[in-house]
Amino acid sequence: MPKQEFPFPMPNGWFCITRTHELKKGEVKSLKFCEKEIVAFRTESGTPAVLDAFCPHLGAHLGEGGCINGETIECPFHAWRWNTDGSCAEIPYAKNFPPKAKDTKIFNYPCVEINGFIWAWHHLHQEEPTWEVPVIEGFNGDDKKWGKVYHYDYNVNTVLQEIAENDVDAAHFPKVHGSPSLPETDAIIDGIYKKTIAETLYDPNSNASEEHKVKDHEMFTTTFTRESWGLGTVGLKMINLPPDGGEFIMINASCPVDNKHSILRWSMRVSNETDDELGMAIIDGIANGVLDDLPIWDNKSYVSDPILCDGDGPISKFRKWVSQFYSEPLSS
Ligand code: FES
Ligand SMILES: [Fe+2]
Repeated sequence: MPKQEFPFPMPNGWFCITRTHELKKGEVKSLKFCEKEIVAFRTESGTPAVLDAFCPHLGAHLGEGGCINGETIECPFHAWRWNTDGSCAEIPYAKNFPPKAKDTKIFNYPCVEINGFIWAWHHLHQEEPTWEVPVIEGFNGDDKKWGKVYHYDYNVNTVLQEIAENDVDAAHFPKVHGSPSLPETDAIIDGIYKKTIAETLYDPNSNASEEHKVKDHEMFTTTFTRESWGLGTVGLKMINLPPDGGEFIMINASCPVDNKHSILRWSMRVSNETDDELGMAIIDGIANGVLDDLPIWDNKSYVSDPILCDGDGPISKFRKWVSQFYSEPLSS
């Protein structure tokens, strides 16, 4: 069979475009998001904003040489200044502000900052957000209970749907990861929200690099919860870490770049009562696990009508759930 490219357009939803600490006051970033060139910036007072990249005056890319001037971004070409909502704030050399400039707005993506990330809303037809980014416990300044946050970023050569399908693809775990699949409960689905719970015996050294393996480790029984809000936000939690019932939490904040590329940004931490070495083995093992998937994703074809068998996991149910995140492209 010939290789089939992924057939759907860019998904609708909230996606992570950068980490909070990676966009400082006065900083401007040129990014690619959902097949669009965009500029992300933070004003002098600290407000983040995300706009389409091209200046409506004569087309310069605001992210390539643009700078922050107060609460505006200043174009590198003729210094026109643009507000965070995309309206024109000032034309420094014009005696008369042209009426067309008053009516022009650069498209501004709805943008929120939460859980240590900056999120932008993408909708194929530029419709307003239909849900909010959830506040995830442990990632919003509640540092008394939790240890250091470990960050991992991955550039992946496929789309978010293919990456997310991995979670329900039970049969790939033994072959690709050398680990048993998690015996998850049926997903609880409520619109854009999906939750699975697995009771499992967990090996903290599974996938951990040699330097982070715990000596004399023991397997432990844990409850592993996975919550998804659309294709951009996943929260994971493991409880009952030995010996005192510690917890592991994680966010997978993801971003579609285009029809072949995505970025995953993971933040992980364990609660303070957890032994540092055990926490590091779990975190390192989970960070390494995804590396096994990359060669498959780099090369695979999309199969729209797969042959499935009883051990395959709820792949069809998953595809039905994700279908809600795609709008039909407008015919041109
Ligand atoms: S192109 Fe941006 S100010 Fe001229
Ligand atoms: Fe996998």
